[in-house]
Amino acid sequence: MKFKKKILCIGAGYVGGPSMAMIAYKCPDYRITVVDINPDRIDAWNSSELPIYEPGLEQIVKKTRGKNLFFDKDIENQIKENDIIFVSVHTPTKTYGTGADMTADLQYWEKTARQILKYSRSSKIVIEKSTLPVKTALAMEKILSSAKSKFNFEVLSNPEFMAEGTAISDLENPDRVLIGSHETKNGLKARAELIKLYSRWVPKENIITSNIWSSELSKLVANAFLAQRVSSINSISALCEKTDADVSEVAKAVGMDKRIGDKFLKAGIGFGGSCFKKDILNLVYLCRFYDLKEVASYWENVVRINEYQQERFVSNILHSMFGTLAGKKICILGFAFKADTGDTRESPAIYISQKLLMEHAELIISDPKALKNAAVDLSGIKGKVKYIEDPYQAAAGCHALVILTDWDTYRKLDFHKIYKSMVKPAFIFDGRNIIDHKKCFSIGFNVYPVGKPALSHFKV
Ligand code: UDX
Ligand code: ADP
Repeated sequence: MKFKKKILCIGAGYVGGPSMAMIAYKCPDYRITVVDINPDRIDAWNSSELPIYEPGLEQIVKKTRGKNLFFDKDIENQIKENDIIFVSVHTPTKTYGTGADMTADLQYWEKTARQILKYSRSSKIVIEKSTLPVKTALAMEKILSSAKSKFNFEVLSNPEFMAEGTAISDLENPDRVLIGSHETKNGLKARAELIKLYSRWVPKENIITSNIWSSELSKLVANAFLAQRVSSINSISALCEKTDADVSEVAKAVGMDKRIGDKFLKAGIGFGGSCFKKDILNLVYLCRFYDLKEVASYWENVVRINEYQQERFVSNILHSMFGTLAGKKICILGFAFKADTGDTRESPAIYISQKLLMEHAELIISDPKALKNAAVDLSGIKGKVKYIEDPYQAAAGCHALVILTDWDTYRKLDFHKIYKSMVKPAFIFDGRNIIDHKKCFSIGFNVYPVGKPALSHFKV
């Protein structure tokens, strides 16, 4: 079949894989190829067990793979063959040198830019899809124009706003698609090309354009605002625990104000995921760079409250269980940073598990999708850890259940059955406020939610 357009995506991760699968699904006359430096990733995308779990992803990959969606290892050849290149390589927080623990490590990005320059045999549109610090496009342009190539490289910013667990529906019905470009003749031409692509399934009014720097900054700011809401309600949960107020009732009353809205007001153990912390720290670094100290410290506190929430949660477990966890068996229900994903990047479960192990607790970790990642995250940490997928088997013989991920299945567990199999007095620490606390209390559990009064059978 002759394809109308040939599109390449460099980086076959959580962003590149699903977003390209959606383009292939919506544009059967376009050929989409995804490459990665990690050959195992490509093999996994070509196998029956995809490298990431995302509801609905497998179905659209099955419909498109081998028809107009291809996963390939030959980066050099694919750069030569394609004229539109999305870049979605990862940009982790830097762990060394200047900006360590704050700014993004752009080495993968720079390598990609150099590869594009080296192997190109025609002009290209290069689209930043990964979340990047503001002005990365400028660095990309500098590299792409460094060799006095006869080809034109037009850099666009098209940040991805999808969330994990709902990636497919977010990609299919995005609140908005943002395209940042230069307002030059070539910039506008490239922008029009990308608008044409998204118009295949996104209503025109939801496709918005801006200059490149606004586009890059908007992505950081959107994530910072979302994270700020989570930290705001979590800070109030601490106050609720002191005053016998109930954080869910407060969130409901506050969120019904249309100006505030009810989303992202769920108190819990804090936010995880690959984006929120990284993006806020990028924002903080940028503010410091421009000597905006007050702005930097305002946003930095969103991350600080998130850490505080996790510290508080662990210390609550320790104190409620009579000040010692040594030798006690604790069943961790959920290790993923949120429900419906196997992703554990920056998951609060990592910190909380480490702290519980430091108290010499024995952990039995259960999760429907994230056990492989959990084992990698906790490898090298001293202490006794078992991984058991079945929550009933995991809980049997334990002193406490600690709910760390809002998996729907945990709401529906048979807590009578679990209670019978546990050591008494049995505890539940519901880090996501998802189960029926009163019911569990009536079964016999001592129940400790977040931001609500504890339900305990102890008289003192
Ligand atoms: C986020 C953004 O939502 C998305 O737009 C961006 O493209 C990538 O980063 P993601 O990290 O996949 O998406 O998950 P999200 O649903 O935003 O949740 C982030 C974290 O906040 C999770 O750990 C979640 O459990 C937590 N959270 C969210 C809360 O604790 N309370 C809430 O009310 C909402
Ligand atoms: P994200 O959540 O941003 O998608 P991931 O870590 O899931 O991040 O995916 C990024 C992918 O980019 C990884 O599979 C990694 O192997 C790949 N990658 C990194 N650098 C390069 C490169 N220079 N060329 C091709 N792929 C790369």
